[in-house]
Amino acid sequence: MHDTVFPADLDLMLNRRLGAPVEAAAYFAVAEAPANAGRHSGATRVHVTIADDGTALHITVRDDGHGGADPARGTGLLGIQRRLAAFDGELRVSSPAGGPTVLDMELPCAS
Ligand SMILES: Nc1ncnc2c1ncn2[C@@H]1O[C@H](COP(=O)(O)OP(=O)(O)OP(=O)(O)O)[C@@H](O)[C@H]1O
Ligand SMILES: [Mg+2]
Repeated sequence: MHDTVFPADLDLMLNRRLGAPVEAAAYFAVAEAPANAGRHSGATRVHVTIADDGTALHITVRDDGHGGADPARGTGLLGIQRRLAAFDGELRVSSPAGGPTVLDMELPCAS
């Protein structure tokens, strides 16, 4: 297993500070998901989108790798799930064989 270096794009649509616990959960998700892409996916690109709609943060991490992400096989994706669940948020994983892998995360954060 080798970490790979590849370009990452970030679209950030957020212009307020959130509560520290919410920011910590978002930080963890945005650290873990691209790290997984680098370690496991064979991707050449990863794209991160963070959008605040006023009631929830929507975070999407997509890579163009070979797929096969499975929360049952590690602690990282389960850790994201657990942190999001604390805010009634959720993680959806789409990672068919052959890719791509898309993680969709919703993190409620009404002001
Ligand atoms: N972006 C991805 N592309 C392909 N496979 C992935 C991807 N992300 C995760 N996986 C697969 O899903 C498994 C679970 O990922 P998870 O992050 O939970 O654990 P991990 O990265 O193996 O270990 P750690 O507990 O250190 O995070 C990985 O072992 C890997 O097989
Ligand atoms: Mg991981």
